[in-house]
Amino acid sequence: MTLKKPFTLSALMIATIAMNGCTGSDQVQTKDAVEQDIWPMITTGIQDDAAMEAKIAELLSSMTLEQKIAQMIQPEIRDITVEDMRKYGFGSYLNGGGAFPNNNKHASAADWIDLAEKMYQASIDDSLDGSRIPTMWGTDAVHGHNNVIGATLFPHNIGLGATNNPALIEKIAAATAQEVMVTGIDWVFAPTVAVVRDDRWGRTYEGYSEDPEIVKEYSAAIVKGLQGAVDQDFLSDKRVISTVKHFLGDGGTQGGDDQGNNIDSEADLFNIHAQGYVGGLGAGAQTVMASFNSWNGEKIHGSKYLLTDVLKGKMGFDGFVVGDWNGHGQIPGCTNGNCAQAANAGLDVYMVPTDAWKPLYENLITQVKDGAIAQSRIDDAVTRILRVKMRAGLFDKPSPAQRPLSGKTEVIGSKEHRAIAKQAVRESLVLLKNKAQLLPLSPKANVLVAGLGADNIGMQSGGWSITWQGTGNENSDFPGGTSILDGIAKKVNQAGGQVAYDLNGEFDTRPDVAIVVFGEQPYAEGNGDLDNLEYQRGNKTDLALLRKFKDAGIPVVSLFISGRPMWVNAELNASDAFVATWLPGSEGDAISDVLFTNIDGSVNHDFKGKLSFSWPNNPIDNENRGDADYAPLLPYGFGLTYADKNTLADDLAEQSNATEQLEDLVLFERAVKAPWSLVLQSGEQQKTMASSRESVGAVSVKTFDKDVQEDARAIVFSGTESAAVRLMAAFPSDLRSYVEKSGQLQMQIKVDQGADAPLWLGMQCGEGCQGKFDIAAQLKNTNQWQTVNVDLACFTQQGVNLSQVFSPWQLSTSAPWQVSVAKLSVTSEKVTENTISCQ
Ligand code: BGC
Ligand code: BGC
Repeated sequence: MTLKKPFTLSALMIATIAMNGCTGSDQVQTKDAVEQDIWPMITTGIQDDAAMEAKIAELLSSMTLEQKIAQMIQPEIRDITVEDMRKYGFGSYLNGGGAFPNNNKHASAADWIDLAEKMYQASIDDSLDGSRIPTMWGTDAVHGHNNVIGATLFPHNIGLGATNNPALIEKIAAATAQEVMVTGIDWVFAPTVAVVRDDRWGRTYEGYSEDPEIVKEYSAAIVKGLQGAVDQDFLSDKRVISTVKHFLGDGGTQGGDDQGNNIDSEADLFNIHAQGYVGGLGAGAQTVMASFNSWNGEKIHGSKYLLTDVLKGKMGFDGFVVGDWNGHGQIPGCTNGNCAQAANAGLDVYMVPTDAWKPLYENLITQVKDGAIAQSRIDDAVTRILRVKMRAGLFDKPSPAQRPLSGKTEVIGSKEHRAIAKQAVRESLVLLKNKAQLLPLSPKANVLVAGLGADNIGMQSGGWSITWQGTGNENSDFPGGTSILDGIAKKVNQAGGQVAYDLNGEFDTRPDVAIVVFGEQPYAEGNGDLDNLEYQRGNKTDLALLRKFKDAGIPVVSLFISGRPMWVNAELNASDAFVATWLPGSEGDAISDVLFTNIDGSVNHDFKGKLSFSWPNNPIDNENRGDADYAPLLPYGFGLTYADKNTLADDLAEQSNATEQLEDLVLFERAVKAPWSLVLQSGEQQKTMASSRESVGAVSVKTFDKDVQEDARAIVFSGTESAAVRLMAAFPSDLRSYVEKSGQLQMQIKVDQGADAPLWLGMQCGEGCQGKFDIAAQLKNTNQWQTVNVDLACFTQQGVNLSQVFSPWQLSTSAPWQVSVAKLSVTSEKVTENTISCQ
């Protein structure tokens, strides 16, 4: 790897220059001289504790290699049993997003504690592994304790950035810590301190800002709220261990690609992306999560320079580095189950949430024995793990079920915590437009509420809400929470006004004002990556709704729910007032505290939120505060109050400058893309895939990880009757422009088990309208991924009407075929390789 050298002059360099009288000598260029200036030693205020270090050394010297490696393995609750914990004594374990005790989404606090208690007791049971070191449980409580039903869901970080209120977010973190402690969990994988430079990134909403200033300060505040202040109740029994993530440069990948490559200079890596670590480590954060991304082509999980030399060396971090979800497996030469490279680079805990934990454990043991990993590296990793456990009092604390907050279910979603969340919602709203001072509204008015987001707590909460992607939830999955509509209805009803709600904006009585709540559907991580920031590209149903009111002369207030700023010039033009609400979480009703005056007409709460992200003026606008020629639609720091005059005109340019070229139509890549869903059919029975496993009659489908999380589907046909798996939409798609360009249906497929009978690849265009080919002969041997392309023209020849495609892809058979599929798309040009002939 070539490290980019920073261009700043360090004090040492200047001294050397003065001594040598020239700038070109080798001496001036020494690595230390240059880098010393960049990466500061971080002081935490945590006192050196010689007695504790002696205890750690003593414990370490009594441990076997197997026990040490077990400390470095972090499996996931869906892949281990309590008996595995008893047998191996893992140092830690996690529940991923949407993973619950007993696989039960509605698990109670008692169920969570029960699992925590059993795992803990199994870890200190030395009958099988000879070890009595308490394990610890880590969870993604990233906007409240978001995997738990009934928890307070705070606004996602992007909204917190807009509040610019570190004291408030410290309170949020403290409340989150308490709700986590109720369930017996020790450790939280937050805060995310990504400084987001390209809003097309699917994790934009997990970041506080595009600017390091807020991120640095917030990181310290969140860590303090989670762990307690170093000089006060640090890691006391009402606090949890925190993780500053993802180290390093996750917010600065090229093209905003999730898990992509950051090519910033080392100076920018520090000045922009590392500021959250300066803040968070300074506040005493005990763990750091390595990032999926690369820096200049090198995966961070394998970067000794960044993990060891920089983080642990120069910055003096003495806690441990945990990996991200099989992130080690992405290092060239590694697999999820075999990766000495990560330990050698400085990874201390492998997050290995699949069944790969077992081979990984065995391989690591072998690798230490045969010298591929030095014993001293293992001892260093385990020392760090034990240090964090001792600092957190895990050896002295009572078991999870006995801790002060355990089982205090009244703390989860308590009134106090919801009050903090409501304050955060109010302060996070950013008023972008307020023509003729339409806002605040009188609660005595006749109000019509419309739009998909109005009565939708799942949509307003975004990803990482009960489920990983935040999809598949009903309002009833958020007991104690309120929708935006709930708040509006309450305000208006109390004041004697009138409120009507219709999703599509139909009305009998003409309203005084329409409030339309619309925006992005929930997503997490790479599933949220976009090519450009145009809202509802090619499908502007919300714009049509806004215009309907506009055309009728009814004033329109837009409440825009989104995980990032988006190009909404047309929607802004069609609105009289426009509010960026971000992803407010479970307390949707707080929005009406700001929108409406008191009954006497006085302002209740004014707008306080200011953009912590620049708002784009075109779909590919990717500007950040401080850029040369900075000209976004609305700058960083923008946000109207009621005293301010509106600034946005009604005739913003609506012409998109994104390329109008025909792009490939991606049907499935990581996730099934809208408007399709994956449908299983066996005989007459049909089922839509709604979780990671689904089966009906003779077919079952399971989600699994090919390259990244959940990017592939394994399909098993049992052969007992004719069955199919297909992508379906309620409305037909017109694929004619693709066939005009000689496009193809493209599929990545792997045979898991072949059969001596046809496997059909097909398309459907309504009742009795379909075409299919037997692809059995073209499939390669078992266990090899291959790409298969079929000309769209072949389907036309078979009688498929490409203007009316309801199902663009389907596999069907009556035989026991087992195949896996990854990417599925309709290409915008002919791909000659691997093309299946349809003659
Ligand atoms: C899992 C989630 C997990 C996520 C991490 C998914 O495959 O189902 O539980 O949080 O990966 O990225
Ligand atoms: C995410 C992390 C998260 C982990 C565990 C990963 O995919 O990148 O932020 O902590 O999953 O769910």
